[in-house]
Amino acid sequence: MPLVTSKEMFKKAYAGGYAIGAFNVNNMEVIQGIVEAAKEERAPLILQVSAGARKYSNPIYLNRLVQAAVEDSGLPICLHLDHGDTFEVCKDCIERGFTSVMIDASHHSFAENIKITKNVVDYAHDRGVVVEAELGRLAGIEDAVNVSDADAQYTDPAQVQEFVAKTGVDSLAIAIGTSHGAFKFKGEAKLRFDILEEISRLLPGFPIVLHGASSVPQYLTEMINQYGGNMPGAKGIPEEMLRQAASMAVCKINIDSDLRMAVTATVRKYFNDNPSHFDPRQYLGPARQAIKEIVKHKIVNVLGCSNKI
Ligand code: G3H
Ligand code: 13P
Ligand code: ZN
Repeated sequence: MPLVTSKEMFKKAYAGGYAIGAFNVNNMEVIQGIVEAAKEERAPLILQVSAGARKYSNPIYLNRLVQAAVEDSGLPICLHLDHGDTFEVCKDCIERGFTSVMIDASHHSFAENIKITKNVVDYAHDRGVVVEAELGRLAGIEDAVNVSDADAQYTDPAQVQEFVAKTGVDSLAIAIGTSHGAFKFKGEAKLRFDILEEISRLLPGFPIVLHGASSVPQYLTEMINQYGGNMPGAKGIPEEMLRQAASMAVCKINIDSDLRMAVTATVRKYFNDNPSHFDPRQYLGPARQAIKEIVKHKIVNVLGCSNKI
């Protein structure tokens, strides 16, 4: 089966009250761990590549690895550009065979965001590619943009109908209190479900995307700290909140930090237990297994997309 767009995935997810996992990929082991989990759970899947991942891995290598995953697994996989910041980067990914791109012009004015997004939508739709855009601003670090808590803004429901109508975008990332990275909350976690509800009332049937949706499991923070790391106070979005969002209009949930933590915790423990080992396969193998386990957990307990193929 070739790469697919997220169009059908989102239609079914919306109707079925579940979400598709969009996992960030940077290397072979991460891709393999995610895809093995999705295959065992018979789950539809989005693999996403950020600008940083493109720079780190070289787009040719990542593309080929994803193609290999598609061929090997036979799964419906959507290959998505995460946080594309210019028309040019979206165009480059479309030319390389991505089936979905995000144009993130959320740091521009509303009018400019519409203009930039519409430009990408026109180009992408002519080539059968779907587009995600963002309204509102999440706190945290994404690619070159570092958004402080003070600059973060919830999505204004009053803007969503005009934005979607004028751009023709296929899905919309909104800010309701999630943020990028592993330090999302100082006190109690709080998501603005009222904003999500209002947006879904204004855009019936329209797929919403949640970025910054790692839950930062306590066992991973503890493992990292136990084996010489330093992540006190790391705190993510509680899983039950993500499950609730997935049962509403949220059709795509972005997860990166949890996978990074699973790799780091596993490798730190590995070297603690095996200080004399030096073959990368010895520690990257367990890291790949840890990715597989956490992705399975997400599919079953958070996204609800097990057996949806
Ligand atoms: O939202 C950002 C993703 O976690 C990607 O992070 O830009 O460091 O690859 P990155
Ligand atoms: P996390 O940092 O919460 O994993 O968010 C990832 C993300 O939104 C990628 O676009
Ligand atoms: Zn993001």
